[in-house]
Amino acid sequence: MGTRDTDWEGVRLHVVTGKGGTGKTTVAGALALALASGGKRVLLIEVEGRQGIAQVFDCPPLPYEERKIAVAPDSDTRPGGDVYALVADPESALLEYLQMFYNLRHAGRALTRFGVMDFATTIAPGLRDVLLTGKAAEAVRRKKAGKRVYDAVVMDAPPTGRIGRFLNVSTEVSGLARVGPIRNHADTVQRVIHSPETAVHFVTTLEEMPVQEVLDGVAELHGLDGGIQVGGIMINMVRSTELPLSQLRLVAAGSVDEHELALGLKAAGLDDTMRLAIDLTAELTEHAVTAVGQEEERRRLAEPGQPCYELPMIPDGMDLAGLYRLAAALREQGAA
Ligand SMILES: Nc1ncnc2c1ncn2[C@@H]1O[C@H](COP(=O)(O)OP(=O)(O)OP(=O)(O)O)[C@@H](O)[C@H]1O
Ligand SMILES: [Mg+2]
Repeated sequence: MGTRDTDWEGVRLHVVTGKGGTGKTTVAGALALALASGGKRVLLIEVEGRQGIAQVFDCPPLPYEERKIAVAPDSDTRPGGDVYALVADPESALLEYLQMFYNLRHAGRALTRFGVMDFATTIAPGLRDVLLTGKAAEAVRRKKAGKRVYDAVVMDAPPTGRIGRFLNVSTEVSGLARVGPIRNHADTVQRVIHSPETAVHFVTTLEEMPVQEVLDGVAELHGLDGGIQVGGIMINMVRSTELPLSQLRLVAAGSVDEHELALGLKAAGLDDTMRLAIDLTAELTEHAVTAVGQEEERRRLAEPGQPCYELPMIPDGMDLAGLYRLAAALREQGAA
């Protein structure tokens, strides 16, 4: 099986963030598919409990249990791989954790019944996060018969505004537990997250606000103690334009002459050409202004020097076929 160069060769935990609604869950799904092609096993983890992954993959709601949800397409030389998914909630993660470290599943159930979970997460919001990131770190490190169970783990993470805090939990947990298994657990999770095995990818559209969130998020991750590797910038819902940029600039600056256009339309045999020309000019100018603005956003996104990938707008709404198209686009551009 031929290996190919990708931009994130050593990365095994792919964290996907971005402004709300820009397509984080969709892109995380596409990335999982892209990483799975070539006969790989990939786990996709959702942490916000909204069943977004089930929607994207058009399958029934997912439990706290790893389930196979999709098969990556074959290529000429490589067989398709498998995508598994898991919805991680802090309560189940805590029960599992208690079971693993203390063999306390039943006690855990009782604790949950008496509301200890609420108590624990209220006094230490960081505990909630470390349980979720801990689940991802565990899946990344898990081995069976000496072999890694998953080649890669993709996490559909909280939005940019919360990502730094979400990933950098050790400082918050340290107030709660200075020593002992929780502390060790938090430290292990932090080692994985701060290692070159983890990268945080940003999803954005070509609009000012989401782009600003990317730039702020990249700066925040770089500024964290020990740093967290910034991954790629996935520019989502890109619409192609027919006109070259130089012409779009002219049009955006108001270069279209309505009278001349009206004459042209009249020569083509149309009626009521002045009104038509005015409407067309307005539409064309608006399109050009948007396209030129998007070019400016592209320029801003290039500033941090991270690889940028473009994902097309799927015109008739997302479906599974659209998801596979996005996965193919990620692979063609070397993101996976
Ligand atoms: N490339 C695309 N082409 C067309 N539609 C898309 C594309 N990417 C995402 N969408 C659509 O945009 C909407 C938002 O996508 P998604 O749910 O993945 O965003 P999100 O960032 O995870 O949102 P939230 O912040 O609510 O979790 C969905 O309806 C999805 O189908
Ligand atoms: Mg989502």
